Amino acid sequence: MFHKEHDAFPKDFLWGSASAAYQVEGAMSEDGKGESVWDRFVKIPGKTFKGTTGEVAVDHYHRYKEDVKLMAEQGLKAYRFSIAWSRIIPDGDGEVNEKGLEFYDSLIDELLKYDIEPVVTLYHWDIPQALQDKYQGWESRQVIEDFTRYAEILFKRYNDKVNYWVSLNEQNIFIMLGYRMAAHPPNVTDEKRMYAANHIAHLANASVIKRFRELGIKGQIGPSFAYGPTYALNSHPLNQLAAENNEEFNAHLWMDIYVRGEYPSVVWKYLERHDLAPEIKPGDTELLKAGKPDFMGLNYYQTATVEANPIDGVGAGKMNTSGKKGTSEASGVPGLYKSAENPFIEKTDWDWDIDPTGLRVAMRRINSRYQLPILITENGLGAYDDLEEDGSVHDDYRIDFLRNHVRAIQEAITDGVEVLGYCTWSYTDLLSWLNGYQKRYGFVYVDREELDEKELKRYKKDSYFWYKKVIETNGQEL
Ligand code: NOJ
Repeated sequence: MFHKEHDAFPKDFLWGSASAAYQVEGAMSEDGKGESVWDRFVKIPGKTFKGTTGEVAVDHYHRYKEDVKLMAEQGLKAYRFSIAWSRIIPDGDGEVNEKGLEFYDSLIDELLKYDIEPVVTLYHWDIPQALQDKYQGWESRQVIEDFTRYAEILFKRYNDKVNYWVSLNEQNIFIMLGYRMAAHPPNVTDEKRMYAANHIAHLANASVIKRFRELGIKGQIGPSFAYGPTYALNSHPLNQLAAENNEEFNAHLWMDIYVRGEYPSVVWKYLERHDLAPEIKPGDTELLKAGKPDFMGLNYYQTATVEANPIDGVGAGKMNTSGKKGTSEASGVPGLYKSAENPFIEKTDWDWDIDPTGLRVAMRRINSRYQLPILITENGLGAYDDLEEDGSVHDDYRIDFLRNHVRAIQEAITDGVEVLGYCTWSYTDLLSWLNGYQKRYGFVYVDREELDEKELKRYKKDSYFWYKKVIETNGQEL
């Protein structure tokens, strides 16, 4: 360990928790809500676990008061949630649906009543289906204007009430899963289209931040980025190079553009050489540069470990550097790296690496490359939980996970990283996009047994009480 004594958490540290509209709200077509790409995508057979959908989710749309009350009792300081574009503008670019806005008015007011800071995500993956049908969503530059108009409505409406805004949630994930792996809408596997859509999403992100500045909105704004730092499997130079490649293609490609408005040169060269580069039009770079965020939102779950990929050989050399037989795999960028098993790291029920030190590494890297404050917008453990007869849920594994990650944050603060707050994922249990309701993240258990949607009772897990203490003591008691 680096320090004997840790700095205390800042006095106004935002101890929070998070969710996303599609994953909690339900009320899929209520009060004028339009269809989103997720409402449509989940109907494709085989895409989600047992065909689960967000039609009811955990019915937060009707139970938000109950949920906020639980937050208040726990002492939560911040709640991050997303606004569904298709509630505000059902067809994406037409009439504004006042009823949709009223729902978020009430949610925000309810939070403020208990002094809970609303952290508002403008986009958590649910673009209106109408825009997908009309011009292929993120693949058309028209989305820049439409997304900015939608954001402006919210900026103006909530300027006096909201201090923290998240622009795009995990652009890297919705782009890669949507256009490379067909695991998210729009169900595409095409690298060229992926980089083109990604560029447009970057422009849209920059455009809303630029508009935020022009309007003189009071709060702070930044994207939430899914970042898991890469380790090399070992000190073999080619494995080290593979780890650098992975950072370039899975981190710098996004964060450099958010912060500097420029593609990392290693990535850009590669895209050009492979005829994958998106079209850059006059004015694009200026717009990207005008969209610098106030903070970097960090969604941290796990690290990646990679080694050189000796099979495709591009830029990686010919050696099998792990001593194991090389296997070809869909690593994303052929030849530059391939995933490896890290022998020092344990796994979750869903085979995700558990690595609290990786969070400290992530924060340090963001801090030294970009010099921006960090808001941890997600971190948590997806696990199977058991509801006991007496209504308790003994999720000590989640407490351990969160405790170790909070420690890592404190270490990063002590190292010199500026951190605004920590939002766990998630507040209540909710719909996991592809894994249905069996994978649970919440402090609050939601009983969906027998799919008794009328019931959907909430139960406080042990982790709920643990976090309450953490908040009360401002992180002194972990
Ligand atoms: C990140 C996403 O933002 C969230 O929606 C998702 O459920 C979690 N990761 C867990 O996979």
